Amino acid sequence: MHDPELERVLAALHARSDAQAAMLKRYDATRAEGALTEDEIRDFRRDKLVALDRDKAELCYQLCRATDARRIVEIGTSFGVSTLYLAAAVRDNVRAAGGDGVVIGTEYEPNKASAARAHFEQAGLSRFIELREGDLRETLLQIDGPVDFMLMDIWIAMARPALELVAPHLKPGAIVVCDNTERYRGEYADYFAFLENPANGFRTMTLPFDGGFELSVRCQP
Ligand SMILES: C[S@@+](CC[C@H](N)C(=O)[O-])C[C@H]1O[C@@H](n2cnc3c(N)ncnc32)[C@H](O)[C@@H]1O
Repeated sequence: MHDPELERVLAALHARSDAQAAMLKRYDATRAEGALTEDEIRDFRRDKLVALDRDKAELCYQLCRATDARRIVEIGTSFGVSTLYLAAAVRDNVRAAGGDGVVIGTEYEPNKASAARAHFEQAGLSRFIELREGDLRETLLQIDGPVDFMLMDIWIAMARPALELVAPHLKPGAIVVCDNTERYRGEYADYFAFLENPANGFRTMTLPFDGGFELSVRCQP
């Protein structure tokens, strides 16, 4: 992560995301009252980064380094903040041990996808990122090879469909992390039902980061 250009891009993006936090809090309260239509919600979210917190993103970097992750799936790319941490881990794994690796990102808002691509270029990490643009329920239908690590940072209703799509490709020992599972425990009920079904072979625990950060390990397929 000690790369001045990457640090500069990340500092600017985190600052922009932090500046939107108060607006997001107010929006969450209004949304909870059911006062917004689906179109209004999508419009509001279109220019919001909703970036993964620094400490959670740093944990992802470290887990990917510790496990020498080479194929990573990121559910929810937005402007590319967490993608940059994941791609830096792949780059550093490749530098350390050779071979290759990729982060598969997912984003359905065209303006966010093109901004993310620009950030990947600025940080010099494009070659480690394959951004799949469109609805993840279509863009993730094909995954070519075992997945070592998966970050779930998406509108909650999409978490279970995404996990169901990627689960068949998770290698034994793969790690899946998911944001805000304590804050929105009720909304994640169907995601937890999948994780806790013994047939799916996961062990899971909620780490005490802000809002909760779920760490799940695929013990057996
Ligand atoms: C919480 S943000 C991701 C933040 C990102 N991980 C970061 O750290 O910058 C979730 C993103 O998922 C995207 N998204 C939501 N539903 C989607 C879907 N069905 N397919 C693809 N992307 C989707 C949203 O447009 C949004 O940008």
